Amino acid sequence: MNDYHHIPVLLNEVIKYLDPKPGENFVDATLGGGGYSQAILKRILPKGKLLAIDLDTEAITNFETNLKSQISNQESVILVHDNFRNIDKIVEKHKIKGVDGIVADIGLSSYQLDQSGRGITFQKKELLNMRFDASVEQVDAKFILNNYSYQELEKIFKEFGEEKFSRQIAKKIIEFRSKNSELRYTTDLYQVIEQALPKPVKHKAADSARRIFQALRISVNHELDNLRELLEKGFDLLAPGGKMGIVTFHSLEDRIVKHYFKELTKGCICPIDFPKCVCGKNPQGRLVTKKPVTASAEEIKNNSRAKPAKLRVIQKI
Ligand SMILES: C[S@@+](CC[C@H](N)C(=O)[O-])C[C@H]1O[C@@H](n2cnc3c(N)ncnc32)[C@H](O)[C@@H]1O
Repeated sequence: MNDYHHIPVLLNEVIKYLDPKPGENFVDATLGGGGYSQAILKRILPKGKLLAIDLDTEAITNFETNLKSQISNQESVILVHDNFRNIDKIVEKHKIKGVDGIVADIGLSSYQLDQSGRGITFQKKELLNMRFDASVEQVDAKFILNNYSYQELEKIFKEFGEEKFSRQIAKKIIEFRSKNSELRYTTDLYQVIEQALPKPVKHKAADSARRIFQALRISVNHELDNLRELLEKGFDLLAPGGKMGIVTFHSLEDRIVKHYFKELTKGCICPIDFPKCVCGKNPQGRLVTKKPVTASAEEIKNNSRAKPAKLRVIQKI
């Protein structure tokens, strides 16, 4: 499968801040096109180990078919088709002792967006699927759109898309369902979104569609819950001094990472008028990046998809 493509985002920054060293053990929680994995392997070989996870079998197959042969010590890479929310069990199963670094690049590979045919983008007519893991039966976007109630749809659009016209769009979907048989294609959904918008903002239908498509994708794949679990379990797995770096592409995810990292850096949480500490809490982590790291103008010029990306890194104390 040679058509799997993805230009890694913030690659230099990820390597700079995580700073993999010879002999270390790393987890790439989102293998994708393998850009981060390859760069990490270059640094940790010959004695280090890389465990690379992806929910999408096509990412795993691509690495196995096209990239693995280029690695000098092939035993040092373990590829796992699974959800990164199970990182604790995966690491245990593969007996990785002492994790020195974890990286996750949350979101979509260019392949998934442009070529996977899963209805993730509204730029093409495709069936409304949106599942990252095409190998298991689970609720897809089409099911949600044709079966969820008005209230459930509105909640998804509001919470995961932060869409101002969530009510109007959810209402139009219910109307569409009562008149036509079902919403099947990305183009059906785009049409409904456009119709739902008030006249003065109809020309901004693409912006609303981007938010609604994002909301559905997050809901179908439980993306925010997966991220929360990855953060907690991942941090627990780190050896002292180990680092975890997360790249996100929208504010909902970045907020989750920011708050979780902040919690880990907090020490005593006793009220300020307590004469002495009774909580006994010590900081567990140190922020390696005080502010999120974003892509340089040059990277954005070469790859516009890097524009919203934010990298945050924490180190275990
Ligand atoms: C943006 S790509 C990663 C690109 C990669 N950093 C590179 O250098 O090519 C994100 C990948 O994460 C995967 N993914 C998303 N959610 C996941 C999850 N919960 N568990 C495992 N993989 C996931 C997607 O299938 C996709 O392949």
